[in-house]
Amino acid sequence: MDIRVLTFLLLITAAHGSMEEVIEVIKLSQAVVEQVLGAWGEIREELDAEALPTLALLEKAMKTVDDQNEKIVLGRLDHITRTIQRLERRIDQSNAVAMLLARTAGTRTNLQLGLREMITLLDRVALYDRRMRSYLGLQNFLERSTLEDFAEWCVSHNPLALPGQLEGIHALIVPPNEKLLGRSILDLILDDIQEDHPNLCNYKMSTHQLIYDMYNTIALTEIKGFAIMQFSWMLLRIYGKGNFTYEASLARKRYEERNTLTADAVRAALYKADRDLYACDQEDRQLGQTYEEVTRLLQGYVANEVDIHSGHSCWKGCSHFQRTDHKSCQYSSELCGKQAACKGRIMNCKFIDSKMWVCRAGQNSNRRYEWIQFENGKQFGNIGSCDRGTTKVDSWRSWVFWQCSYCMCICEEYGPYSDRYFNLWDTTSDIQNNKVVTGLQIVKEGQVFYLQIRQGKLGKRGSITNDELVPLRTFTSDDDIKYGVDYHMLSYEKRAIDLNKLQSPPGHVLTGVRFGMSGSHLHLEIRSTPFNYTTGRLSPQNSQWIYDTEDSEFPRSQLKLIKPDIPTRSATPLPVDSKHDQYVEFTHSDFEADAAQSTVPFIDIQPLNPSKGSPLLSGAGLYHRGAPYSGGFIAAKLVTYDYSPHIVASPLPSTVQNIE
Ligand SMILES: *[C@@H]1O[C@H](CO)[C@@H](O)[C@H](O)[C@H]1NC(C)=O
Ligand SMILES: *[C@@H]1O[C@H](CO)[C@@H](O)[C@H](O)[C@H]1NC(C)=O
Repeated sequence: MDIRVLTFLLLITAAHGSMEEVIEVIKLSQAVVEQVLGAWGEIREELDAEALPTLALLEKAMKTVDDQNEKIVLGRLDHITRTIQRLERRIDQSNAVAMLLARTAGTRTNLQLGLREMITLLDRVALYDRRMRSYLGLQNFLERSTLEDFAEWCVSHNPLALPGQLEGIHALIVPPNEKLLGRSILDLILDDIQEDHPNLCNYKMSTHQLIYDMYNTIALTEIKGFAIMQFSWMLLRIYGKGNFTYEASLARKRYEERNTLTADAVRAALYKADRDLYACDQEDRQLGQTYEEVTRLLQGYVANEVDIHSGHSCWKGCSHFQRTDHKSCQYSSELCGKQAACKGRIMNCKFIDSKMWVCRAGQNSNRRYEWIQFENGKQFGNIGSCDRGTTKVDSWRSWVFWQCSYCMCICEEYGPYSDRYFNLWDTTSDIQNNKVVTGLQIVKEGQVFYLQIRQGKLGKRGSITNDELVPLRTFTSDDDIKYGVDYHMLSYEKRAIDLNKLQSPPGHVLTGVRFGMSGSHLHLEIRSTPFNYTTGRLSPQNSQWIYDTEDSEFPRSQLKLIKPDIPTRSATPLPVDSKHDQYVEFTHSDFEADAAQSTVPFIDIQPLNPSKGSPLLSGAGLYHRGAPYSGGFIAAKLVTYDYSPHIVASPLPSTVQNIE
């Protein structure tokens, strides 16, 4: 998605942040409506009770009554604006907004224009709101005419006045005439995000959340506008400018109408919006910080025929050796005497050239070789300087006919130098204490990859509090762990990992994750637990583990890595390139690019903690970022909860209807 468009989006979603706040907005709008109505009621009663005596009465007495009413109205207004302000203060602007603001430049797409207009309109309403707040603070010093003037402008028919601005915002969401004026800004946003690959990852939010936050902002603006207008009429009535009962009730009807239409439009957009939440591929990738590696699963290995043939003869040629192992080192002055022998399987040997220079890697490296240069000009890896000095490796003749060639093979050796284990334990939130998963990270401890989660306490209407990291439980020497039960070990035969996404059924939330096995494939499984949205109560006893089994009619397709180099060599962030229901196999890096020394894909270990606050989650998955000539990264993703069923325009309380 265009960065400029995003800037706008983020500007609009001033209420960018947690779902808790959104819920607050909805609650608040009800509270405000009730208070506004309460205020109307009070004025009416007081005015009726006074039964406004004839004009013959002292002007002074009149004024006292009006002053009292003014105080009541202003007091109420003050209370409401403070409530709104408190809420707004809690909604932090992300730094990304400020950062991107500086980079904003204009193009002239419909979306850009629409977003610009929306920002202008939202800003103007915010301005009314600010001015009103300042007037409220200064009410004892201001002339009545100033307040009166302001109130009149707040309900004026001038298109630049408040009512016109609110209609303008609404028209962007729900165009009054779709054929004439184009499409809803929500659809334009969805199109735009779908067109250019979604990279909302910088903002740690899903498209779904983005739209939802936008709704949040608009709902908040509507309620501000509604409150200001209602209070303006009250003031005007107190100032003796007229009755305004009818006007106020018309405005309330229109407010309701707009809310219903907006809710419908937002629900429809949310239904289409992607709920996946990714971490970005960083340009500044750091081992141990942003990524980890499986090491020495399958690794390029130079061996002489004579050392891998049981008869120690050289008459078969490299390609004969597809499955063998190291027999012994026949001539210790040769390479075999200098390098650690492969203690596992030696596979897929090939002859490349009879002479080569091998640069061996340092003692603590996961590599065997930095690079290999062949006499015929072929190069494996990035040829450069060599700290340990290069080793010249020459094939030799044995007897007259047989050449004892050096072969390029693959070594599969498990043991203390090969990190290739995956923990299979359940990683769950404390559902007995009503806690749900709020974040996910793949971590590597020792030679083992684990899943680690964050959890938080689920409250009413999707609010989550006390977000915390769940301590990692790692294998210890006391654990009696079993292959296939407690852990999985990658091997030549079992090195596939499924890239799929798992979703909870409606009305369920994510309460756990684990790695599991599906045949020979490693995959992800989720636990989901039903809950009551209104009360926030989980039903722990109805939790279920969800996983995908392969459909025999539609078997998973393999994501093939094409001549994969080390992914950290990619200068630009790698895009998501896997689809649902694919799998990828861990393998060695490309011979030419890297002398087949690394294991790819790498594994993204960035924590996935959705924004600030904690939105509700309903699923998780694994995916791959990559491109041709890159091994890419396997990473976890989360699926945010589908809030669309909960977006319902709450009708105004029935008392409203009969206020006249
Ligand atoms: C305002 O007008 C309505 C009808 O239009 C009437 O019922 C009501 O009594 C009036 N209120 C005041 C305070 O004049
Ligand atoms: C959720 O809880 C509320 C309050 O206890 C109850 O009225 C409602 O029926 C519950 N909803 C569901 C779907 O169980």
